[in-house]
Amino acid sequence: MSRTGTCLLVLVLIGFSLKAQTNKPATIPHLEKHGTATQLIVDGKPMLMLAGETGNSSASDLKYLDEIWPKIEKMNLNSLLVPVYWELIEPGEGKFDFTLVDGAINGARKHNIKLVFLWFGTWKNSMSCYAPFWVKINQEKFPRARDAQGRAQEILTPFNNENLNADKKVFSELMKHIRMVDADYHTVVMVQVENEIGMIPDSRDHSKEADRAFNANVSAELLQYLEKNKESLTPELRKAWGDRGFKTSGTWEEIFDKGPLTDELFMAWYFAKYTNAVAEAGKKEYTLPMYVNAALIRPGYKPGQYPSAGPLPHLFDVWKAAAPAIDFLSPDLYFKNFAEWVTKYDRPGNPLFVPEASNAQSMANAFYAIGPLNAMGYSPFSIESLEHPENNQVTKAYDVLKQLTPLILANQGKGTMTGALLDSANQKAELKLGDYVFTVSHEYSWPYATRADGETPRFGCMIIMVSPNEYYIAGRGVIVTFQTVAGDGSIAGIGTMDEGRFVDGKWAPGLRMNGDQSHQGRHLNLNGNTFSIQKVQLYRYK
Ligand code: DGJ
Repeated sequence: MSRTGTCLLVLVLIGFSLKAQTNKPATIPHLEKHGTATQLIVDGKPMLMLAGETGNSSASDLKYLDEIWPKIEKMNLNSLLVPVYWELIEPGEGKFDFTLVDGAINGARKHNIKLVFLWFGTWKNSMSCYAPFWVKINQEKFPRARDAQGRAQEILTPFNNENLNADKKVFSELMKHIRMVDADYHTVVMVQVENEIGMIPDSRDHSKEADRAFNANVSAELLQYLEKNKESLTPELRKAWGDRGFKTSGTWEEIFDKGPLTDELFMAWYFAKYTNAVAEAGKKEYTLPMYVNAALIRPGYKPGQYPSAGPLPHLFDVWKAAAPAIDFLSPDLYFKNFAEWVTKYDRPGNPLFVPEASNAQSMANAFYAIGPLNAMGYSPFSIESLEHPENNQVTKAYDVLKQLTPLILANQGKGTMTGALLDSANQKAELKLGDYVFTVSHEYSWPYATRADGETPRFGCMIIMVSPNEYYIAGRGVIVTFQTVAGDGSIAGIGTMDEGRFVDGKWAPGLRMNGDQSHQGRHLNLNGNTFSIQKVQLYRYK
């Protein structure tokens, strides 16, 4: 080899070894773009989280937690959201005890389950109930938020550095510990920072420190963000700012006017700054993806009546501006208008994850979030309280989603998936995908369907295109008919239709669905009794 050739080779090898070193952090669970979607990457592969969240107290006793694992496995979960409690990991100031954390990690490993830790630190559902006793009794050092009458609340104020430093310290110790025990295993894949942050019972904190910040100028950092993102701001924020002439300096009330929305914007900025500082301190020790969750707003509630200033849709810009160390904002979905709320969190720059959903509501919601909205996971709350883990609706839904996981992950963010959620208010959806329009109707709209008594159930499906004429349709309780989009008078026909399962990632067709099962070739029907998959091959005729 010539001298130049040898030099080049040496340079390439140096470059390669440096790259290998700088690439090392990529082996930590992290987020990666996949088309328009963002996926969680664990051990170099995308992971779809078929998750559940335990009840709040369930991880405070390892005997209790140990009894949960078999149930979790039976329900086809691959991940569990588990609280970590400040009061129990730092029982005395500076004295750390990670027994519960280690117990959760060991239990998860034994059962091949990944963990998302929920940091119940300064705030849990607005309150500071998980602050250790030594924090609660030292109000001089760790001051509280106050209502408009000056009454102290069981809420640590975000306007105080002692509060922040105490949380940063314990959270960074937690992340350091996770790194020490888990960096080679990746059992813990994400962390939620705090839980359902929000101000209540007033729209803002009225402590002395809060008043001082409220009467000071709005941070230039926020105003610069608003200017830079003026065209894409949430309508509420843009209006509040625009109504007073898009001012670029002044106090909160000078810029946004007096009122509850301004109180909320102000609190959101300081909650988000505080949470960002906690997340940053933790990420310095171990850079797992970190997110926050929001308690949503009940109809008609005003700021102060609901946990205000949390990571809510109308406050997105403030949270994004203040908290770059938080990878995404996510909704806790207990309301019936699931589709409406979940869509508000499916935004450019905000990967979707549903960390809490009502375990009583239909698992069709999971299909909707994960398919058309590309969510990286779904998690019913208080998962261990569900009866009949061998065959309840979570078990059945996750059985189907587990089979479909490779296909879903390959198609997320590529524009090759769609889907619908149907109930009594929304009985039909028309969805265009590839060369066809799919009309998806609630099964009950078909006169021959078997109906259960009571409220019309929520049904739904996801549709995945694998080639221009081939589609998998999965879910429950839908009737699907097909039209072409060609505009040449051609009619869509059902070539073949099979129900089946994916076995080791390969489609294994079962029954050929024809005759009564397809209404003599007129439609596809996913039965309302359970979750299932069918593959349909379409063609055109004139
Ligand atoms: C939402 C909270 O985030 C959970 O910790 C729990 O309190 C549930 N609400 C209870 O419904």
